[in-house]
Amino acid sequence: ETYADKVQRDERFKALDAEDIQYFKSILNDSIIENEDDLLFYNEDWMRKYRGQSKLLLKPKTTEQVSQILKYCNDKKLAVVPQGGNTGLVGGSIPVFDEIILSLSSINKIRSFDSVSGILKCDAGVILETADQYLADQGYIFPLDLGAKGSCHVGGVVATNAGGLRLLRYGSLHGSVLGLEAVLPDGTIYNSMDSLRKDNTGYDLKHLFIGSEGSIGVITGVSILCPARPQAFNVAFLGVSSYEAVQQVFNDARKELSEILSAFEFMDLNSQRLVGQYLKSDHPIESAEYPFYVLIETSGSNKDHDDEKLETFLGTAMENGLVEDGIIAQDETQLKNLWNWRENIPEASQMNGGVYKYDVSIPLKDLYGLVEAANERLEAAGIVDFEDASKPVVKAVGYGHIGDGNLHLNVAVRQYSKAVEKVLEPFVYEWVSSKKGSISAEHGLGFQKKNYISYSKSDIEIKLFKDIKKHYDPNGILNPYKYI
Ligand code: FAD
Ligand code: MLT
Ligand code: ZN
Repeated sequence: ETYADKVQRDERFKALDAEDIQYFKSILNDSIIENEDDLLFYNEDWMRKYRGQSKLLLKPKTTEQVSQILKYCNDKKLAVVPQGGNTGLVGGSIPVFDEIILSLSSINKIRSFDSVSGILKCDAGVILETADQYLADQGYIFPLDLGAKGSCHVGGVVATNAGGLRLLRYGSLHGSVLGLEAVLPDGTIYNSMDSLRKDNTGYDLKHLFIGSEGSIGVITGVSILCPARPQAFNVAFLGVSSYEAVQQVFNDARKELSEILSAFEFMDLNSQRLVGQYLKSDHPIESAEYPFYVLIETSGSNKDHDDEKLETFLGTAMENGLVEDGIIAQDETQLKNLWNWRENIPEASQMNGGVYKYDVSIPLKDLYGLVEAANERLEAAGIVDFEDASKPVVKAVGYGHIGDGNLHLNVAVRQYSKAVEKVLEPFVYEWVSSKKGSISAEHGLGFQKKNYISYSKSDIEIKLFKDIKKHYDPNGILNPYKYI
């Protein structure tokens, strides 16, 4: 992606010089990266769609150091992009021009865990999977799970308000995060890490930072309420013949599996064909191909009880024709394998060269209509073919957290191109807006959607966003050129 036609460098920001680098070295010693090759990973996003040109990455080890860095940058008007695991999918975590990258990866300690309350306090740079493994040892679970768990940070998921695979069960981070520690652009340290579950003393400021995408402060610590880890997990993978049937299965699952239902994901056939090519293996449902697939996870405290419920549910769904075929994982390996056919869609959709991602909420009845509309438009433009490598687009595929009304429309391409982008944008955003949906369900706005906020937010809401940004970051040094 070239930025030149979308945004110009803001000349109010100072260009980095030797004196600045000297200052950063004086507080961080060797915890900085200046070498262009070493910087490449941090300058480029996960999709390899956006690339910035930062000349400097800083890896502070303490909140105090973050405060010193930001105060200096604010005084000198040096622009900064906070970065966690760099797994964000909207071009928000990388610089656009020469912003300094402030990595949280060395602020990465578990601070404390209270096994009575279930409250975990940790640094922002703790990797999500590390936090979850730590909790597993104590019989607890992190109330969020997603495919990037091996790389993304706890602070990063809070900064994006990530949703993930179990939001259906554990709700949004706005519910489970109890407190934060964050550094404001002028160096002020905001701390609500000691908040208890109930605290109605005035404005609940932490919510401003949850989902703020690094625009008003750098999160350095997170306090989060964690539930007890379920003792029994089950996964069923089902083949379904229509989108109407997918919705019906969801309705029935909510009623019949009720308290043990912990994930309800759907995938279309083309997304599964891509995963098949990516994993180079046969689909777990071998009898035939089905237009839609559903992954249901249950988790609870009594395996026999859960097994019985799930088997009865599946038996009834097959008897009444809602489900064509289905399997239930018999052991841990099979359970992981079934999840792989869902969690590998992001990798599989971009293995041919690239992917245009649209992460949207749409009322359930209309949700899959967007994938059909996108494919019709690509076909009308004569630019899509699953097999023909001379066409720029492989296919538009649909999958996602249907239990949350969240569709991921992924347009798998052989290379990124302005021509393809023009066919898709603003068409997708217009389509979503016409159904009163949201153009950003869980990935945020970042750089990708900066010009499209008005499809989901009113002028008044956008003005209030800008007021908040100006209040916390009057010099605009934090994550510039992005959504505000
Ligand atoms: P980064 O990518 O580094 O940063 C993301 C944004 O947050 C940027 O704007 C950055 O400036 C800001 N930021 C990061 N850390 C901080 C901080 N400490 N303080 C202030 N700002 C900060 N998302 C979902 O919601 N659900 C999913 O199911 C899901 N699955 C994914 C699967 C894969 C394979 C991948 C690659 C991504 C997936 N994501 C998903 C995207 C998701 O946004 C990220 O994985 C995660 O939320 C980002 O965490 P990170 O640490 O990598 O943050
Ligand atoms: C997912 O649900 O797999 C993620 O949000 C990632 C993606 O959409 O690529
Ligand atoms: Zn998702």
